[in-house]
Amino acid sequence: ARESFVRKPGETLRIWAHRGASSAVPENTAASDEVARRAGAEWIENDVQPSKDGVPVILHDTTVDRTTDGSGAVRNLTAAQLAGLDAGSWFAPAFVGQRIPTLASQLEGLKTRGGNLLLEVKGSHTKAQVERIVAEIRAKGMSSRVFVQSFEPQHLVWMRELAPELPLGLLRSTLDADPVAIAKDLGLSAYNPSETAFRTKPGIVAGLHAAGVAVNVWTVDNATSWKFLEEADVDGIITNRPAELAGWNAAF
Ligand code: G3P
Ligand code: CA
Repeated sequence: ARESFVRKPGETLRIWAHRGASSAVPENTAASDEVARRAGAEWIENDVQPSKDGVPVILHDTTVDRTTDGSGAVRNLTAAQLAGLDAGSWFAPAFVGQRIPTLASQLEGLKTRGGNLLLEVKGSHTKAQVERIVAEIRAKGMSSRVFVQSFEPQHLVWMRELAPELPLGLLRSTLDADPVAIAKDLGLSAYNPSETAFRTKPGIVAGLHAAGVAVNVWTVDNATSWKFLEEADVDGIITNRPAELAGWNAAF
């Protein structure tokens, strides 16, 4: 049986560091993963999508414009072209030289330093592209340290088929009428709604927990909301401020 991500009595909220420690360090870079780890986050969220030549790379937007010194759609740029871009200077001069990581390099970093990856299969992937992601996770021997999430149920259907060992989470910006049914159907370990969506029906937690499914809420950066969510019995928080949430947990 897969590990349960449901919070046990006495445990604090699980910290999932959104795009790494992205409030302090440029998102989805090696540096943002390192800082999140040092802050005490066990899990780092990164977004993955394929380059033009099919290499899974770590980037949130569909274009490189916002977070690098280049321009254009990720899918029109080769891995070599992407590797030449600077992914730190847009954030602050101290981060010049940060690169768009490949999935392989990000896995290698986490393997070396410790830490686990919450990997969002971003946008639209083909089954072959999902298969490539699975192959890279397995090649690094990281299957026991990766959790996959997506807004797209089809990605999770393929993941379940191709990599039954990986725990899965469904991202939602509005709640499903019956979250337990969809969780059972997809074989989810977690149901991950936005804070706005979750607040429309916090009572979903009980049914999901009864089915062994964890609830992780995104993207939550303030203590007022952390308290509300803790009291609503959610399991984890996807946050841009992992250091602050670790401090809040410690004081709890
Ligand atoms: O992990 C939740 C969150 O990452 C989903 O939204 O746009 O930040 O990828 P986004
Ligand atoms: Ca994401």
